[in-house]
Amino acid sequence: MQTSRATSFLRGKYVAGESEAQGVERALTLLQDCGIRSSLFYMGEYVDTLDLVAQNVENKVKVAEALRDHALDIHISVDPTQIGHHIDPALVEDRAYRIARTIKDAIGNKTDGVNCLMFDMEDASLNDPTIAIHNKLQNEGFPVALTLQAYLYRTEADLAAQIARGSRVRLVKGAFAAGSELAFQSTNEIKDNSRKLIAMMLSQEAREAGFYPIIATHDTRLHDFAIAQARRNGWKPGSYEFEMLLGVREDVAKRLSENGERVRLYVPFGRDWWPHAARRLGENPANAVLLARSLAS
Ligand code: FDA
Repeated sequence: MQTSRATSFLRGKYVAGESEAQGVERALTLLQDCGIRSSLFYMGEYVDTLDLVAQNVENKVKVAEALRDHALDIHISVDPTQIGHHIDPALVEDRAYRIARTIKDAIGNKTDGVNCLMFDMEDASLNDPTIAIHNKLQNEGFPVALTLQAYLYRTEADLAAQIARGSRVRLVKGAFAAGSELAFQSTNEIKDNSRKLIAMMLSQEAREAGFYPIIATHDTRLHDFAIAQARRNGWKPGSYEFEMLLGVREDVAKRLSENGERVRLYVPFGRDWWPHAARRLGENPANAVLLARSLAS
């Protein structure tokens, strides 16, 4: 599917390009043209060879180095399984330090932007190790952020701990399968828990703790809920942000940005683009129809 001409419209829609330079270029364009920030993600998760880990790390590092030469506001998204978790969990720390150190050095004394290493959250077996490495780097003063998933029961406690630490947390609904012993199963339960967690993230207590909320969803009712909480509790636009995926409901992202909200897009790049596009396909029936037509022609 990745090499088929019939699927190339999906690559154009959801992926910035193959190279790190194309990822950075898209981040610059989004910032200059629309005031929208980026979260750059070199694709290639759950890898099991050291060569692929090295390739992943090099691409993250190259993006971090771009911070030296460009006025950017970027998160560099990293999945622990991209940087060696499935080969040897001990390697992850070494690689994460390298990426975080490059970001820190590249930022130098710049104070504009919220540039950081964003730990994405994968399946439930990765929750504890991901939080542990995030906390360790944070304790040592590296610019890091953490993703938490609203579908997990444990997230309320994990979020409370991160609020107390004054962290940067990106809240998502959760994209992995998890059983009822770990996670809410129905859409309504996950939405209700998302609201509860957003209220915690945009509480007065969180603001006073120096916490930085990132609400990552395409759900406009959750955007409205978050904005109402922010207004009620004295959060100014720019002291929290919304994040969405490149190519998904970009009209909503632009509208939020035009209304003065801080918005970030998750901008994937790299050669291994099909798994990412296939997930977007599953979320949007209109794309499935277009793909079927394209394959048939
Ligand atoms: P939801 O599925 O509830 O839909 C809300 C609305 O958006 C609906 O109207 C829907 O039709 C529309 N919509 C959704 N997808 C669409 C599409 N592709 N095209 C058109 N319309 C669409 N997960 C995880 O487990 N770990 C992680 O680290 C991350 N990281 C991450 C970063 C960012 C920036 C985002 C936005 C999401 C993630 N996710 C994630 C994925 C997340 O867990 C979740 O699966 C998706 O965001 C879908 O949930 P939403 O709340 O966005 O939309």
